[in-house]
Amino acid sequence: MIPSPFAHLPPAPVDPVFAIAAEAKSAGEGTIDATVGVISDETGTPLMLPGVRRAIESFARSFPQGNFAYPPLLGFPEFRSGVTRLIFGDQTDAIASIATTGGTGAVTINLKLLKLLGIREVLLPVPSWPNHRRLLTSLGFIVHEVPHLERGSTSLHGIMEALSAAKQPCGVLLQACGHNPTGLDFTDEQWRELATFLRKKEHVVLLDLAYQGLVRGVEEDAASVRLLREAGIPLLVAWSASKNHSIYGLRTGLACAVASDAAEREELERHFMILTREMHSAAPVTGQQIVALVQQEHADQWRTDLEDLRAVITRKRRTLKDAVPPFADALAGAGLYALLPCSSEQILLFKQRKIFLLPDGRVNIAGIPDARMEEFTNACKQIIGS
Ligand SMILES: Cc1ncc(COP(=O)(O)O)c(C=O)c1O
Repeated sequence: MIPSPFAHLPPAPVDPVFAIAAEAKSAGEGTIDATVGVISDETGTPLMLPGVRRAIESFARSFPQGNFAYPPLLGFPEFRSGVTRLIFGDQTDAIASIATTGGTGAVTINLKLLKLLGIREVLLPVPSWPNHRRLLTSLGFIVHEVPHLERGSTSLHGIMEALSAAKQPCGVLLQACGHNPTGLDFTDEQWRELATFLRKKEHVVLLDLAYQGLVRGVEEDAASVRLLREAGIPLLVAWSASKNHSIYGLRTGLACAVASDAAEREELERHFMILTREMHSAAPVTGQQIVALVQQEHADQWRTDLEDLRAVITRKRRTLKDAVPPFADALAGAGLYALLPCSSEQILLFKQRKIFLLPDGRVNIAGIPDARMEEFTNACKQIIGS
């Protein structure tokens, strides 16, 4: 028999987030799963936002007249226009956009566009979402890691130093809000400083906007995008509907590029169409239809849903911060995440109590049910001390 060619495959790396999330799932009843970035309800199941539920109901009612034809390669126009307005406000004429498979697809297609521009090197402030590095290296980019934090606060020094030394235009992959894993975002002042620094340079910023509406507010969370755009910085945006519409499995996202005029926008969209065709052809449609319906018919409800959610997340952060002073600095940010200063032994002690964090100490605060907060803070006090 001929030996299987697959026998020579090197061992596949394990995705650290999905591996620990699977472990948490298999731990059964009574688990607190604060691993993967999903916003859960009190039973630990992903939340269904009332505004999104209404859109799904009207989608289902209308479906007998519907079909599952191929969509346009760029995605549905009503989805693209609704989301570009969420991101950029009213001025969307020069925004090239394409529907993608989640935020991951949006980052990927934008990175492919960077490659077409001839960009070979990308700056990545770390720590970051682990998949950023994987996507970059899988596309052959040279990755320059710079520190996201200096003495516990967000810092632009690493980025500025690296870009000042750069011989060619680089990509800069930044998170627009709700920084994963630290919860610590650049201040508006820092975004302004960055915009001033980047003005008249050819570096291209890719802003990953995976948490719009879950940190400060729908408009506020897009402030970094709008500020860099107004400053005329070459800009790409990767948007995700996974968290802010709670439709993780529908794999819905949008990639945008800011063009200088309508002709450039059309050219960019022609490139987007070929890039998506080479990846997997058009992105899935159901999430696009639901997001479009949310934004057309249930936008007020959706904004209220997100406001309620932000209040819950903020309250949980505060409870943990007040109860466990050694975590106060780590919890100074906002949004779902904080990087708790825990040793691997301490992470193991949490695990023995069926409390699952990521191995680096990242906690998804929105994964802890309200009714289990006391149990969680007590465990922190006993394991970390107070
Ligand atoms: C910073 C960041 N970008 C992108 C994504 C990917 O989002 P999606 O699930 O929509 O692909 C995530 C998901 O956790 C994320 O944290």
